[in-house]
Amino acid sequence: MTTTVYDNIGRLVTNDPSLGEGPLGIVRNASIVVEDGSVIAVGAAGQTADDRVDVEGRCVIPGFVDSHSHLVFAGDRSEEFASRMAGAPYAAGGIRDTVAATAAVSDEELLRIVAARRAEAARAGITTIEIKSGYGLTTASEHRLLCVAREFTSDTTYLGAHVVPTEFAGRSDDYVALVCGEMLAAASAAGARFVDVFCEVGAFDADQSRAVLQAGIDVGLIPKIHANQLGEGPGVAVAVEMGCASADHCTHLSAADVDALAGSSTVATLLPAADFSTRQPYADARRLLDAGATVALATNCNPGSSNTTSMSFCIALAVRDMGMTADEALQAATLGGAAALRRTDVGRLGIASVADLVVLDAPSHLHLVYRPGVPLIHATHIASRPH
Ligand code: NIG
Repeated sequence: MTTTVYDNIGRLVTNDPSLGEGPLGIVRNASIVVEDGSVIAVGAAGQTADDRVDVEGRCVIPGFVDSHSHLVFAGDRSEEFASRMAGAPYAAGGIRDTVAATAAVSDEELLRIVAARRAEAARAGITTIEIKSGYGLTTASEHRLLCVAREFTSDTTYLGAHVVPTEFAGRSDDYVALVCGEMLAAASAAGARFVDVFCEVGAFDADQSRAVLQAGIDVGLIPKIHANQLGEGPGVAVAVEMGCASADHCTHLSAADVDALAGSSTVATLLPAADFSTRQPYADARRLLDAGATVALATNCNPGSSNTTSMSFCIALAVRDMGMTADEALQAATLGGAAALRRTDVGRLGIASVADLVVLDAPSHLHLVYRPGVPLIHATHIASRPH
């Protein structure tokens, strides 16, 4: 088996305090040896291997783990975005426009669109990505979207309960029955790993959300929830009660919500680019961290509330407007994302981790915040392969 050394790393973030300085486990003047896509050694510069990649003193960080994305969609809602910037409120209903646009393209075209978007995300340093369905809303179309998502990741999420489709207007419980019945069976057959529900006014209420998550749990899926995005509500309480891997958004939290997250293993996944694009207040990451909650940052790439693949942008917003330090934000975008996906093999660079790494065109990760908007991703390697 061929080994490769990434050598001459000016500053290496491992996310393993036993390997280096501080919570980020920073090693200066470092090298990493990889074999068969996994890390087999972390140490001082100058380790030897069959092949050598000289990163010329740059900073290397674990690849970003984007634990919340809606990458499978077609169409464009830039007009909706523009009217929001002019003062219109964000509402869940725009999802139906994307459902129609996605239904209008062929499977081949959808695959091409998603491949381009995944490549864009890789260029932005995203090495692990979760991808949701949710722009189908029929049994056949949710199955189709999950099959497309599976082409790009094993971390796929069934989000049939994204919004109530027009044909079920006034009959949302009938739609929930479909989501929990034949649509769930199709999602499971398509290899979904997680089940998700949008618990919000205009989408699904607490009891409907519980029903969807329990049905998913019963067939072996891991629950997640869109919670407390547009206002305070029952989402976070449901997340903790149902043992969700993550409660995503968490923009509007009560003191009880913060305490509940802190006392649970549910990760609070914050989506600052969605708060930016919907003119919501930013989630209070400081309050969550101080209470002891685990926080993840994710892009929430989707056509309505957050059309970006830039984790660097999310990190900059989290530091500027959500009370996180740059160290905390980087950790939330890597290790935090891994926790939200219940994975221990990514989000860190240590023995036996996947060799997912990002070389920054910068001497340290602080530049992700210090130089906002500048393309600092010099190279992205997934399982040690350049992308
Ligand atoms: O996470 N909140 C629900 N789903 C997406 C928005 C989807 C859309 O507007 O198309 C979100 O923000």
